Amino acid sequence: MAPFSSLPRKREPITGGEWIPACAGMTRKVRIALGLLGVLFAVLTTAPAVAEGVPLPAIPKAKGEKCVEEPQLMRRYHMEFLGHQRDATMRQGIRTTRHSLKECISCHAVDGTDGKPVTIKSEQHFCNACHSYAAVRIDCFQCHASTPEVPGRQAAR
Ligand code: HEC
Ligand code: HEC
Ligand code: HEC
Repeated sequence: MAPFSSLPRKREPITGGEWIPACAGMTRKVRIALGLLGVLFAVLTTAPAVAEGVPLPAIPKAKGEKCVEEPQLMRRYHMEFLGHQRDATMRQGIRTTRHSLKECISCHAVDGTDGKPVTIKSEQHFCNACHSYAAVRIDCFQCHASTPEVPGRQAAR
């Protein structure tokens, strides 16, 4: 058995000290990471809408008296109610014209600073309130209007 002192030492550079710049780079990355963590911490601890430590999305108030379903149910299942008739049989009974996207948009329109309803491009749009927070992306508004219908303007309902 080789004597302890003759075993290669871990920190010995294999070739002419190349580990030094590599190591320096690592330290810089670590420093950047720590900096980002600091920023993240600052953002999290100063976020305005915080309930029991969990930041929540700010949901704009609707116009009508009440939703077409219990808001509780809507919050969870609106995507089911809204889906195109992929699963007609499964949804029979719950899917009626009252789950029209056009209706959602008309009650849930949010007026911008110019007094006109904002489009889906705005962070303030009702459908963005939770989606941007939850990182959900929907393509519905490529075809459907994201603002209440303006007479004379064509769009899928
Ligand atoms: C007649 C008006 C009306 C229509 C039509 C309507 N809603 Fe609502 N919606 C409301 C009201 C009122 C609330 C209760 C919360 C409020 O006052 O903002 C609500 C609540 C909700 C909530 C829960 C929001 C929250 O604060 O958690 C969701 C999600 C929602 N609606 C989605 C929809 C979708 C999707 C449609 C279309 C299928 C739709 N709504 C159609 C009026 C409407
Ligand atoms: C490629 C274009 C296109 C896309 C994308 C699209 N739709 Fe549609 N949708 C249509 C057309 C066309 C109709 C039929 C319109 C009519 O009935 O007059 C329709 C009908 C509907 C209807 C029934 C009519 C109404 O207004 O209630 C709902 C609900 C609906 N779409 C929801 C959605 C949702 C939710 C999404 C996104 C997940 C979506 N659509 C994406 C084209 C599209
Ligand atoms: C109360 C918060 C909230 C509001 C307001 C809201 N959504 Fe959602 N939506 C969600 C969440 C959360 C998901 C993701 C659910 C999941 O992945 O299980 C989602 C998912 C969806 C999906 C399915 C996306 C997919 O790829 O599966 C559609 C379609 C959709 N929402 C349409 C709408 C439309 C249209 C509006 C505006 C009328 C709207 N949502 C407003 C919270 C909301």
